[in-house]
Amino acid sequence: MSWAIRRAAPADVSGIAALEQRAFTTDRFNARQLRYLITRAQATALIAGDAAEPLGYAVALYRRGSASARLYTIAVAAAARGKGVATALVEALAAAARARGCAALTLEVRADNSAAHQLYRKLGFVESGRLPGYYEDGAAALRMRLELANLSAARSTHLAPDLR
Ligand SMILES: CC(C)(COP(=O)(O)OP(=O)(O)OC[C@H]1O[C@@H](n2cnc3c(N)ncnc32)[C@H](O)[C@@H]1OP(=O)(O)O)[C@@H](O)C(=O)NCCC(=O)NCCS
Repeated sequence: MSWAIRRAAPADVSGIAALEQRAFTTDRFNARQLRYLITRAQATALIAGDAAEPLGYAVALYRRGSASARLYTIAVAAAARGKGVATALVEALAAAARARGCAALTLEVRADNSAAHQLYRKLGFVESGRLPGYYEDGAAALRMRLELANLSAARSTHLAPDLR
């Protein structure tokens, strides 16, 4: 499987929205929200693979005056899972956040999403809190945090030139 990670563009919105619909059962972003994240928000939005049928995507948000970036959403198409796509996306977001001067990358993840917990722990995130009733269906979230100071350079060979 040959694929690359690049910055997402407006032309990617419908493919990402379709992936989002398939990947999540609650708290999904619609196409309008995704377009905002890609075009207007203080964010880094990345896509892996083709616009029409992306393998995955991920978004980090920045806040003025905050030293932390927030991993806001990430999903990988079912057929592309287990091949390192999410790892490469998170590593690229972490590198982008560090390049902007952020000291940490934080996130919230469903307490019952063990695949995502394993992914984040493997990448060096540590739990920093628990948020009961955080999601639409009442599920709790874990808050996790990755310190960026000691991050090694993104190792992925899948990055577009402007992300290396
Ligand atoms: C969670 C998700 C993003 C992982 O994507 P992925 O591309 O398959 O992840 P990777 O291939 O990079 O896996 C990296 C590590 O994560 C862990 N992992 C990934 N999928 C796993 C699973 N189903 N079960 C247990 N651990 C898993 C493993 O530690 C894996 O390392 P390994 O391959 O050496 O065992 C993907 O399953 C997904 O899109 N799920 C639905 C949406 C979602 O839950 N998003 C996260 C919201 S916070």
